[in-house]
Amino acid sequence: MSQSILKDDFYEKIKPRLHRRIGRELRLAGHILDLGCGACGLVQYLAQTYRQKVIGVDISSGSFPRRRHTFDGRRFRCIRKDARQLGFIKDASLDAVVSVWALHEMEHPGAILVEARRILRPGGEVLIVDFPRDSLAQKLWDEKYYRPEEIKMLLKDAGFKDARARLIEKEQIIWAHGQQSAATRGLPYHG
Ligand SMILES: C[S@@+](CC[C@H](N)C(=O)[O-])C[C@H]1O[C@@H](n2cnc3c(N)ncnc32)[C@H](O)[C@@H]1O
Repeated sequence: MSQSILKDDFYEKIKPRLHRRIGRELRLAGHILDLGCGACGLVQYLAQTYRQKVIGVDISSGSFPRRRHTFDGRRFRCIRKDARQLGFIKDASLDAVVSVWALHEMEHPGAILVEARRILRPGGEVLIVDFPRDSLAQKLWDEKYYRPEEIKMLLKDAGFKDARARLIEKEQIIWAHGQQSAATRGLPYHG
């Protein structure tokens, strides 16, 4: 990859495109949770574009917008919360869980994905978007990124069915899915 695109703003440029792609992917979901939502941008985009009910959680609230907003009675909100502590959300109550560029930063990703599975209804979808190991992101920030197959295994180990992971955007982004199959009791993960 040439030095000319080895810049921090590479990802800011592809972000709106990723948000549109995520929106199309989750367009049929009525109620969505964004794990590691950062500045609440995707949460607002989905709520405004698709009129979905969207909650974002982030362990740091540093960049949240100051107020909640309402669109035709459909509210979105971003709250300061560890993605591992989702006890405020009922079992099987959401249609989709999404996480963008955040799973690699999370401690206990397996436990977080088990929580994501608990709150998804049967047939509900988890969508993980992250940077892959050995990518441009690695050169920029040198964090511990996963390979696609590692995210696929995390999803499988958390009990998701049809776990899949592939590279998109010139192999600079991992796009991974899993589906909630059935009852959430007796989950396999205790880590
Ligand atoms: C690289 S930022 C991505 C933010 C946003 N998703 C985006 O697309 O811009 C990763 C975010 O994950 C959050 N994060 C890390 N560990 C977390 C955890 N255990 N629970 C919730 N959020 C977490 C960080 O605070 C940070 O805002």
